[in-house]
Amino acid sequence: MNGDITQSQEWAALGKHHEELAGRHLRELFAQDPGRAGRMTVTAGDLYLDYAKHRATQETLDLLLALAERAGLSERVEAMFRGEHINVSEDRAVLHVALRMPREAELVVDGQDVVADVHAVLDKMSAFADRVRSKEWKGATGKPIETVVNIGIGGSDLGPAMAYEALRDYADAGIAARFVSNIDPADITGNLAGLDPATTLVVVSSKTFTTLETLTNARVARRWLVDALGEDAVSRHFVAVSTNAAKVAEFGIDTDNMFGFWDWVGGRYSYDGAIGLSLMIAVGPERFREMLAGFHAVDQHFRTAPFAANMPVLMALLGIWYSEFFGAETRAVLPYSQRLHRFPAYLQQLTMESNGKSVRADGTSVSAGTGEIWWGEPGTNGQHAFYQLLHQGTRLVPADFIGFAEPHEDREGMHDQLSANLFAQTTALAFGKTAEEIAAEGTPPEIVPHKVMPGNRPTSTILAPKLTPSTLGQLVALYEHIVFVEGTIFGVDSFDQWGVELGKKMALDLAPALTSDEPPATAPDPSTEQLIRRYRELRG
Ligand code: F6P
Repeated sequence: MNGDITQSQEWAALGKHHEELAGRHLRELFAQDPGRAGRMTVTAGDLYLDYAKHRATQETLDLLLALAERAGLSERVEAMFRGEHINVSEDRAVLHVALRMPREAELVVDGQDVVADVHAVLDKMSAFADRVRSKEWKGATGKPIETVVNIGIGGSDLGPAMAYEALRDYADAGIAARFVSNIDPADITGNLAGLDPATTLVVVSSKTFTTLETLTNARVARRWLVDALGEDAVSRHFVAVSTNAAKVAEFGIDTDNMFGFWDWVGGRYSYDGAIGLSLMIAVGPERFREMLAGFHAVDQHFRTAPFAANMPVLMALLGIWYSEFFGAETRAVLPYSQRLHRFPAYLQQLTMESNGKSVRADGTSVSAGTGEIWWGEPGTNGQHAFYQLLHQGTRLVPADFIGFAEPHEDREGMHDQLSANLFAQTTALAFGKTAEEIAAEGTPPEIVPHKVMPGNRPTSTILAPKLTPSTLGQLVALYEHIVFVEGTIFGVDSFDQWGVELGKKMALDLAPALTSDEPPATAPDPSTEQLIRRYRELRG
C-alpha cells in the first residue's frame, strides 16, 4: 500500500480486536482452545516454530494476514526477487537472496546475470580459502597461515564474527579467526597480541572502503606487519573484500587479492557473500556452501509458502501486533546456545539499521512506531540477569527463544538441562503462577504478592535439530525476511541507513579540536565545547 497503513480499515479492525483480546490471559486461550498448540506451529526447512504461546487467536492471525495483503506484501516480495530497485533512496536493487541462489538459477538484473557473478566470486573465494587451508598459500617467510584477522565494522564485522562463533565446531583446518572493528585502539592491540605476523592473514572488509574505523585499523595492522616483515610482505598477508576496487588499490592491496560484491548487497545482508571470507577460510568452502543452501531453503519458503504458513511472515506480523497494538517497544532474542552469543548483536544491526526509520519510502512521515528495539543474550545466562523483568516487570517484552535438539558435544546431560530451561521459561512466561497457587503452598500472605507470576508474556519458540552451517543460514534468512515484512508494513525503505551519516561527519569535523587549541571547524554547541575543553585538560 502507498500511504499510511494506520489509516486502513485493516489497521482499525486490529485496533478493535486488540481491545477485545488485551484482557484475556494465555491460560484462558489455552483452556478454551486445547487444539491451538497443535495448530499454531509451522516449519521452514529444518526450523520448527511454535507460536501457540502468543496472545493471538485465529481471528488475530486472520486480521494480521489481511494487513499484510493490504500492505501489498506479495507484490513486494516478488519485486525484491525480481531485482527491482526497492531501495528507493539509493535507487538500488536489494538482492541478498541472489547471494545464495544455486549455480543453475538465473537472474538478470539491470542487464547483468547476477547469479553467474555471485558464483564467480564464490569460486574465487573457495579457491583462495582452499589454498590457505591446505597451507599451499604461504606467508612472506614461507610459513603457512594460522590466524585470519578480519578488519571491518558493522555489516563487515558482525556477520562473519557471529557466524564464526556459531560454527566454531566446524573450524577444522587449525586456522583461527579474530575480528577487529572498533576504532578504540584496545581492539586492534588486543587482537594482534600474541600473533606472529609471519602466520597472520589480514582480511580488510569494507563495502565502501572508506570507513574510518576500518581503514585506520587496517593501517595499524599494515604497519605492524611491515615493521616485522618489510613492505614486500603485504601482498602475502593482506587481502580485501569490497565493492570499491579503486580504493582497495589506493590503500595498497593488490586487486588480484580482492573479493568483490555489489551495491545491491547491503552491508548488514552481506556475510553470505565475500564478506564471509574469514568464515570460509575457517570452516571451509563446503561448509560455507551448506550454509548458503540453508539460506536458500528459507528464501524459497518465504517466497512460496502461503502467508498463513509462512514463518517469517507470521513472526513479523506477531511482532507488529505487540509493538503497534500492545505498545511493546522491545523484542528479546534468547538463543539457548552459547555458540550464538553474538547473534543478538548481529540482529541488532540487521533489524534496527533496517527499520529504524521515521519516514516512508515516499518521504512522508510514518505514523506507526517503526523498528522494535532488539536485544538479548544467550540462555541460561540471561535468566540470572534480566529475566526478572521479563517475568514480573511492568513492561511487555515479547521474546524469541531459539533452541537446538542436539549439541555438538555433551557433558553430564548438560544439553538437556539447557533445553529444559528453555521450555520452563516459555511456560512460566506464558502461564505464570497465581496468588491462589502461591498461597496454597503455605506462603505467608504478605509475601504472596511478591511471588505472583503474572504470566501472559508472549514467546515464540524456534527449535532446530542442531546448530549446523545449514541451520545457521536458515535462521539468518528467517530474520532477514522478518525485517523485510515489518519494513513493508511500515512502508519504510529497509535498505538505506542515512541516520548514521551525520554523526560520522561530525566526528571528522571535531577530531582536530581534541588535539589543538584552535576551535573546531564547525562550532559545536556550548555543552560539547565544554566537554572538549575538559577532555583536553584531562589529556594534558
Ligand atoms: O555506518 C554504518 C555502515 O555504513 C553500515 O551500514 C555498514 O555495515 C558499516 O557502516 C560498514 O561499512 P563498510 O562495509 O562500507 O565499511
